[in-house]
Amino acid sequence: MYSVIILCAGQGKRTGLNYNKMLYKFQGQTVYEMTLHTFMQDPRCQQIIVVTREDEKETFQQLLDDERIQFVVGGKERQDSVFHGLQHVQSSYVLIHDGARPYLKQQHIDALLLALQEHQACLLMVPCKDTIKRVVDGKVVETLKRDELMQAQTPQAFSTKLILEAYTQAIQSGYQATDDAQMVEHFTQEDVYAVMGDYENKKITTVEDLK
Ligand code: CTP
Ligand code: MG
Repeated sequence: MYSVIILCAGQGKRTGLNYNKMLYKFQGQTVYEMTLHTFMQDPRCQQIIVVTREDEKETFQQLLDDERIQFVVGGKERQDSVFHGLQHVQSSYVLIHDGARPYLKQQHIDALLLALQEHQACLLMVPCKDTIKRVVDGKVVETLKRDELMQAQTPQAFSTKLILEAYTQAIQSGYQATDDAQMVEHFTQEDVYAVMGDYENKKITTVEDLK
């Protein structure tokens, strides 16, 4: 059994829409509904914590009805929203998921839960297809070894105790990270494990992702 935190409290600025991309519809269904359905269909999911902006809570509330869903108000940055959500987790394991990744498959939740039987921290990742270079002021300073590079996705899955400890230290010290696993990497001794995801589990970010 696990809890999931679904992050929906962003503004979706990069999509160029004049509203939160979580409310964008693909064939009549919002991104929010698509994302939640995957977890609503999973009997192992005992708590769905939806993090939203205060003024959008009611809009989301009207879209779906499931007794496992509860709403929490988000914060300024993604990591603040996660921290708010973490305060309400009741299970020993928690999955943290971007609301803006509506293409997640059940098999990937299975793979994460399996990894959690042995490890306290893991996340979905896919190998980088392109060569990645570090560029500073328009000049290439380093080319990284592609076969060692993977892209982080969500869900990222943790023992609740571990991720809460890591986040508490991060928020207290003002540490900024772009994903959740980084908090464990930086503030704890636990190893973080990569679980193979798939390229379809992409995040709705820019206008091309809305097609
Ligand atoms: N998110 C959140 N709280 C924030 C910022 C982001 O809950 N303060 C959520 C978003 O709703 C999204 C996920 O985190 O589901 C990933 O963030 P991102 O793709 O950056 O979404 P937005 O911040 O909404 O988009 P943008 O950065 O383009 O404004
Ligand atoms: Mg953002």
